[in-house]
Amino acid sequence: MASALRTALPRSLSRATTTARPITLAAASSLRRHYSIAPPPPATTLQAPDAADPRLSKINTSTLTITKTTTPKAILPHNELVFGRNFTDHMLLLEWTAADGWLDPRITPYQNLSLDPATCVLHYAFEAFEGMKAYKDRAGNVRLFRPDKNMARMNKSAARIALPRFDGEAFIELLKKFVKLDERFIPSERGYSLYIRPNIIGTQRTLGVGPPGSAMLYVIASPVGPYYPTGFKAISLEATTYAVRAWPGGVGASKLGANYAPCVVPQVQAATRGFHQNLWLFEDIDPATGKKEDFVTEVGTMNLFAAVVGRDGQKELMTAPLDGTILDGVTRDSVLALARERLAPQGWKISERRFAMRELVEAADEGRLLEVFGSGTAAVVSPVRAISYQGKLVECGLKADQEVGPITLQMKDWIEGIQYGEEEGHPWSVKV
Ligand SMILES: Cc1ncc(COP(=O)(O)O)c(C=O)c1O
Repeated sequence: MASALRTALPRSLSRATTTARPITLAAASSLRRHYSIAPPPPATTLQAPDAADPRLSKINTSTLTITKTTTPKAILPHNELVFGRNFTDHMLLLEWTAADGWLDPRITPYQNLSLDPATCVLHYAFEAFEGMKAYKDRAGNVRLFRPDKNMARMNKSAARIALPRFDGEAFIELLKKFVKLDERFIPSERGYSLYIRPNIIGTQRTLGVGPPGSAMLYVIASPVGPYYPTGFKAISLEATTYAVRAWPGGVGASKLGANYAPCVVPQVQAATRGFHQNLWLFEDIDPATGKKEDFVTEVGTMNLFAAVVGRDGQKELMTAPLDGTILDGVTRDSVLALARERLAPQGWKISERRFAMRELVEAADEGRLLEVFGSGTAAVVSPVRAISYQGKLVECGLKADQEVGPITLQMKDWIEGIQYGEEEGHPWSVKV
């Protein structure tokens, strides 16, 4: 199977199988002398050389084996749940080799991984992940929210760093079995959920830099409480102008662990100055004016929305476009779809467009900035009170005694209503 695939590629550009050596960058560039006829692909379609091969992404769900734990964990009281601190009894795990594709899936007791110190993920960050949730509805059914979106994004992220793709639909079937097995960990109150963390890593034992010849896809899950247990608390942001999270042609649109570690220091710096999160800007020339602007991208680990009234009186809900510098958030997409369906008929303009800090500052100064909020799986929406930018505090439309604006609150209600199955039969909510 794999040898047929390799015939399509220069031999040393194909994946290493078993203990074969991965290619080095020097070998790849010397090869390029002979194979430089095709133009390089656009950055948006960069992917593993064999990413499109369906044989290597196939998952056989019928061979799943389940080994149940003999030491079930105690269920923690709701008020002791801390995000990502406690995990369920089991994990889902699949291994992959370039020779055989995905091997038989397993659900095992939650346990340590055993990795050789030379495993490529530990040296070169061959790792991509997802964040999604399972919810329990009033009738006790367990539900996932748009899991196909997470699978599509994870496949894109994995392929960008030469990790294997996988059949998303088959993986959701396995995920359902895993979640069902550990469903006793999902509290049945609104606001509570099971955070699900799929993770894919390169497992080849090598210090050579090249496409990993083996990989592991595993899922762990952690019960979580509401992000705002005592009601919304609006956050304050520090706009970061001294560091950049992502750039055109980079990997900011991929959910790679390597994107997250470098963001921690600016977040800590913002915290030392009293801000909850930092706001990532990207300085660029505005082609309309020829002037430099600080374009708004995303906030911490959320996408960002701003509701403004234009000078012409037009109400607009806007967020940065998917230009490769922001993550294609599932919540962002959901907010946009609901806004187009339910706010546009009320006269709102819904925009995915570049907007600069200057635009927010002017709107705030002229009393036209209505609301700003972050969007993401963890909190659904997170209202923003103020943004510190160039030595000035930009007030984002909330009154002193107000923690959330009406659009932000409406979005939370709409999205949670679907997640918890209260909006009957909505296609985004997938029963387990
Ligand atoms: C950098 C970044 N942006 C945005 C998001 C929001 O994405 P989603 O709505 O899929 O959770 C996340 C969340 O995981 C993130 O890490």
